[in-house]
Amino acid sequence: MERKAYLSEVDLLDYERSREWAKDSALSLHEKIGFPDEYREGYTGAILEDILAKLPQLGGDGRKILDLGCGCDELAWEILRLSDERRHECWMVDSPEMLALLAEHLPESRRYRSCAGKFPDEHGALIAGHRGSFDVVLVYSVLMYVSVHDSIFNFVDKAVELLAPDGRLLLGDIPNRSKRRRFFRSPAGIEMHRAFTGSQDTPQVDPWELEYGKMDDSIVFAIMQRYRAGGYETYLLPQGANLPMANRREDILIERRP
Ligand SMILES: C[S@@+](CC[C@H](N)C(=O)[O-])C[C@H]1O[C@@H](n2cnc3c(N)ncnc32)[C@H](O)[C@@H]1O
Repeated sequence: MERKAYLSEVDLLDYERSREWAKDSALSLHEKIGFPDEYREGYTGAILEDILAKLPQLGGDGRKILDLGCGCDELAWEILRLSDERRHECWMVDSPEMLALLAEHLPESRRYRSCAGKFPDEHGALIAGHRGSFDVVLVYSVLMYVSVHDSIFNFVDKAVELLAPDGRLLLGDIPNRSKRRRFFRSPAGIEMHRAFTGSQDTPQVDPWELEYGKMDDSIVFAIMQRYRAGGYETYLLPQGANLPMANRREDILIERRP
C-alpha cells in the first residue's frame, strides 16, 4: 500500500529521488527505475525494437553510443548486449547507485564504460572530452526527471553537443499530459478508464488544467523548436502501439546534419 503511494503519478521525479529508490531494497529493479512492474515486465523486446527503428545506428557496427540515464534494468542490459554484438563503444551514464546496480545485476559481463553523476552538472570532463563524437545518444524515460528541479534546456543543450555529424539523440518515452488528456477524452480512453475502474464513469478531464511539474505539448514543442532553431532536425514520433504507455507518451528525435 505504502509502495503504491511512493510510486504514485503525483510524485515529482528527480535525480535525487531516483538515487533514493536505487538504495531501497524493498523495490524491484523496475521500481528502482521508477516503473510499476506491470509497465515494464515483458515489454523490453518491444521497447528495444521501437528504439532501433528510430536509432538505426544501433544496429550498425562499431559506433559510439551513450545511454544517458541508463538505469539498471533490462533495457540497459539489452543495449549492452547489442553493443557487444555490434562492437560499439558504449558509455553508460547514471548515478553511482544506479551504475552499481547495473554492474551487479547484468546477467552476463559486458564491455562498457560507466560515468557516474548527474548530467550535465557532474559531467564536464565527458562533455569537454567527447564533444561531437557520439553517433547515438539515448535518453530514454529520463526527461521528466529533469523537468521540475533542473533545466531541460541545459540538459538537452549539453546532450546535443555530444552528437557527431549525422548523429541522433532520442528523447524517448516522454510523458505528455496533453496527449494523455486527449486520450482520456476519446472513446478508446473512456473504454480503458471504465475497464480499469470497473465502472461506467467517464474520466474527468479538464482541458485547461495547468498540471504542476508535468510535461505537456508546450514543453514538447518548445524542445522541437529550440533545436531546429539551433540547426538540428527534430521529429516528434509516436511509440509503437505495443508499448505500454503509447497512448500518453511520445518520443523526440534530434538529428545533427552530416
Ligand atoms: C525512468 S529511469 C529510465 C532508465 C532507463 N533509461 C530505462 O528506460 O530503462 C530514469 C533514469 O534516469 C536517471 N537520471 C535522471 N536524471 C539524471 C541526470 N540528470 N543525470 C544522469 N542520470 C539521470 C535516473 O537515475 C534513472 O536511472
